[in-house]
Amino acid sequence: MTTARTRVAIIGAGPAGLLLSHLLEKAGIDSIVIDSRTREEIETTIRAGILEQGTVDVLEGSGASPSIRAKANKHDGIELRFAGQGHRIDFPSLTGRSVYLYPQHEVLKDLIEVRLVAGQDLRFGITAERVDGSDSDRPRVIATDAGGGALEIEADFVVGADGSRSVARPAVTGSSTGGYFREYPFAWFGILTEAPPSAEELIYSNSPDGFALISQRSPTVQRMYFQCDPDADPDALSESEIWEALQARVPGTTLVEGPIIKRDVLRFRSFVAHELRRGRVVLVGDAAHTVPPTGAKGMNLAVADVILLELALRALLLHNDESAIDAYADKALRRIWKAQHFSWWMTSMLHVAPNASDFDRLRQLGELRSVVESEAGRTYLAEAYTGWPIEL
Ligand code: PHB
Repeated sequence: MTTARTRVAIIGAGPAGLLLSHLLEKAGIDSIVIDSRTREEIETTIRAGILEQGTVDVLEGSGASPSIRAKANKHDGIELRFAGQGHRIDFPSLTGRSVYLYPQHEVLKDLIEVRLVAGQDLRFGITAERVDGSDSDRPRVIATDAGGGALEIEADFVVGADGSRSVARPAVTGSSTGGYFREYPFAWFGILTEAPPSAEELIYSNSPDGFALISQRSPTVQRMYFQCDPDADPDALSESEIWEALQARVPGTTLVEGPIIKRDVLRFRSFVAHELRRGRVVLVGDAAHTVPPTGAKGMNLAVADVILLELALRALLLHNDESAIDAYADKALRRIWKAQHFSWWMTSMLHVAPNASDFDRLRQLGELRSVVESEAGRTYLAEAYTGWPIEL
């Protein structure tokens, strides 16, 4: 067995784990990041693409993604589409903020590059099995490398940034599932298509056939989703059936069709772990909470966790001051539950539940109208979508 020693052991080389390790290094605190996946897998998995302005500020300001503003696409609004009509929510006039379209795997490429250039200890193909000793001063990550060899990482602090199937979670909550959660009776059928954009901004559409989201990736590749059954088989539909389903859900807009180069079914749920910290082990990002994708909050919430946690770890590990780490969970949870509410709200307002009655459908249109026709309604949506300021 190999033993490694570091100040902060981070499980998971996703946005949360990599950004945390980057910020800690700038504060002079060394860390080891491990991930069971290969670098290529991490850099090519398709995820969502909307970054809050605050997320972009942190990625750019910390040098994690130094030219992100030049590479990302600034979006000043979204369209809510229902009853065949589009209604634009203009972010800058309502909140003074915008959002940026920059795919998560591009953020990951930037973060990995910067970590490796800095000579940081970042190890791929290492599978964490469990975390031991959360109540001690020397918590440990028990892991296995790609060749089956045992690795133990001993640290002052362990961070579970290992996603919704976190192996660190049992060390914090006592079980792998322990949390508050809600399932949804629908999922998203997602495609990547080689076509020019169908719209300049994202369209979130409610229609009698269900929800659709028209998003983008680049001038030549677009990302689109439509509501489907959680058990749908992504290969069961022909390309023309997919375009028909998408087009039916955005009445009033003509989609520009192209070859479909990727398709997937995304199941989702809302989840918040019962506890975010136990002793010297803490959970961040999807390990701590997952949100349905409708409000694009997932990665932004992970970044907000990391900003709070990095400050707390600095106080603890450099100044032996425990007050910020003691306050971490309560502080992070305030934003987490606001984002949970927003993601649940956008999801319920825009999707059509399989058992929806006529009352439910008409009430939903009333809800959408009350949002778009009221400056207060539009402002609430814009504030949440562009991201609340981080309370330190
Ligand atoms: C995406 O582009 O993948 C995307 C954008 C906005 C969302 C979810 C996904 O709310």
